Amino acid sequence: MSTHIGASPDQIAPYVLMPGDPYRARWIAETFLEDPVQYNDVRGMLGYTGTYRGIRVSAQGSGMGQPSMAIYAQELFDDYDVQTIIRVGTCGALSEAVNVRDVILGVAASTDSAMNVPRFRHVSFAPSADFTLARIAAEVAEERLLPLVAGGLYSADQFYSPDPETTRTLAGYGVLGVEMEAAALYTLAAQFSRRALALCTVSDHLLTGEETSAQERQETFEDMIVVALESIVRLEEKHPVG
Ligand code: HPA
Repeated sequence: MSTHIGASPDQIAPYVLMPGDPYRARWIAETFLEDPVQYNDVRGMLGYTGTYRGIRVSAQGSGMGQPSMAIYAQELFDDYDVQTIIRVGTCGALSEAVNVRDVILGVAASTDSAMNVPRFRHVSFAPSADFTLARIAAEVAEERLLPLVAGGLYSADQFYSPDPETTRTLAGYGVLGVEMEAAALYTLAAQFSRRALALCTVSDHLLTGEETSAQERQETFEDMIVVALESIVRLEEKHPVG
């Protein structure tokens, strides 16, 4: 086991879907994976492994915010040799280019977090998605008619922002959505030379104030999980890690 995950090394698959909410990890496992087995409940951060169309896939909660995401992503990459993590989350829309219920594919993630200061000091590193995986996910979404928009995310440290001006500035620079985890995931994937992607359903619109109903959120979320899982199948066909 690692410090925060109580699994033996072979219990976690090379491919991991990461929702923020651990109950969503359980829901993903029970809804989409065959023969899911729970491997973690340390701190309630549930993790499961099963198979999807014959490929071993895990679903692991990340918790909220970059410090929590960084703990789980680092242990998955470093202690469990995970090759690919897809964050499957929600975000707030910052741009008129996206609507509630769209899915944002995070090409890159800006952040107000200081987490990378001790890593890169005066350099502002650009945490970015894996291009191969991003391209596959965009293809799969298009085939399945899932409304997916690719662009920048803002990984904010605070859900209740004391600084809406910064959010407006980022929107002015084309950033599409605000969430709280992608930048840490992308940075750690870069550190360990692994693949990562963040897919986020737009749950609320910061410009229009529009929100999705719980039912709509659930439906879009389901479509997004299928896109994530089918992307893993296609990635494994092209670049097998098994
Ligand atoms: N801010 C940060 N994270 C979020 C939001 C938001 O408005 N909506 C969904 N996740």
